Amino acid sequence: MQTGQNRAMAPLEITASRADPALLDLPWDLPLEEWPESILAALPRGISRHVVRFVRVSGRVLALKEIDQALARREYEMLRVLGRLGIPCVEPFAVISGRTDRSGDPLDSVLITRHLSFSLPYRAVFSQVSREDTAHRLLDALAVLLVRLHLEGFYWGDVSLSNTLFRRDAGAFAAYLVDVETGSLHEQLSAGQRAYDLDLARTNIIGELMDLQSGELIDPELDAVSVGDALVERYEGLWAALTEKESFSVDERWRVAARIEHLNELGFDVAELEITTDLDGTSVSIMPKVVDAGHHSRRLMRLTGIDAQENQARRLLNDLDQFRAATDQQAEDEEFVAHEWLQTVYEPVVRAIPRSMRAKLEPPEFFHEVLEHKWFLSEREQRDVPLSATVQDYIDTQLKHRPDERSLVTTETSALPIVES
Ligand SMILES: Nc1ncnc2c1ncn2[C@@H]1O[C@H](COP(=O)(O)OP(=O)(O)OP(=O)(O)O)[C@@H](O)[C@H]1O
Ligand SMILES: [Mg+2]
Repeated sequence: MQTGQNRAMAPLEITASRADPALLDLPWDLPLEEWPESILAALPRGISRHVVRFVRVSGRVLALKEIDQALARREYEMLRVLGRLGIPCVEPFAVISGRTDRSGDPLDSVLITRHLSFSLPYRAVFSQVSREDTAHRLLDALAVLLVRLHLEGFYWGDVSLSNTLFRRDAGAFAAYLVDVETGSLHEQLSAGQRAYDLDLARTNIIGELMDLQSGELIDPELDAVSVGDALVERYEGLWAALTEKESFSVDERWRVAARIEHLNELGFDVAELEITTDLDGTSVSIMPKVVDAGHHSRRLMRLTGIDAQENQARRLLNDLDQFRAATDQQAEDEEFVAHEWLQTVYEPVVRAIPRSMRAKLEPPEFFHEVLEHKWFLSEREQRDVPLSATVQDYIDTQLKHRPDERSLVTTETSALPIVES
């Protein structure tokens, strides 16, 4: 789309799928660095390779990155393609180019992405809890993301904690891709390309953890190298489970179902499985050809319409199963029971979140926290504390003290201001 004239009277070019005219009101003739604090959603401190700023436009928080035009276009397109492939990544919003400053000198383009709501940069995660365990949870999420990217043939080229955003996922984290500047999409990645990406990930993560140690954000005793090694191990284990060929004798046919079930437990659906028998028909080989992440979240969505992360979905589905057993409805239609659970269990819990506290946690994460809290209270009181009492107690004793995380905006090195949406 071509727009008219901006205030510096130079033609400004906006590429966007749905351009918001309010974008035109932003001061494009100023370098991002000089944008007045009054229009920023928060003022980031510290340095990152490019200037990144967050602004609020028509009720949305947008992330703006000042970058060379060709790179901005490329990153915008790449994010669109990855989004279509179902990869968890930030959503591209627009590219602004043709900028000039007030004296007519050219300025770099700006890539705009939507701020990923409820996302946490890794430094924010560590500033809240800094245990070795936290580092492991983050790299677990990163390993899953990397495997998913590699399955799609995406070579990242700059895997790091700072190029990833994390969302809470039932006590664990889900990782989202944020910076794809160096990435490229291939028909299929070679083992060498994957190894190179993984090695870079390991090196970057070790460096980032050491950096946090010198900034006293995490325990100086933490063994950064072993955390880096754990990423490699986790990645390789998952890659093997998802792609390796497995052979067995024909009498062990149950292993086909077992393999599929195992992949489901890992959160993947098998869309295509290759089954081959040898010439004399005594042995069988199976190899997953196409796997799709999101086994539990898809099932939860189908049954209840709830949009949740994979671990959250697993947790909610477990609760649904328990409800089914407790109400003696095993023989009932699954959809029917799910509807009842939604109305009598899930919705009353999430509706109890006071409006003023809705920016603290996403509903499925809140539900997960309440289930944890119920377990904790019941242990303490040596009785089964009902859900309704648990919810109120959780709100009063825990939720109140949690920061708002819906629009926590910051760049990598900034001091983590917390902003209410
Ligand atoms: N859409 C978004 N939602 C939330 N945070 C974002 C978004 N886009 C960027 N960020 C934050 O800004 C930081 C910098 O963005 P990005 O990595 O794209 O820029 P960069 O110049 O390559 O930075 P660096 O070189 O330090 O990695 C990210 O680490 C992330 O924390
Ligand atoms: Mg980056």
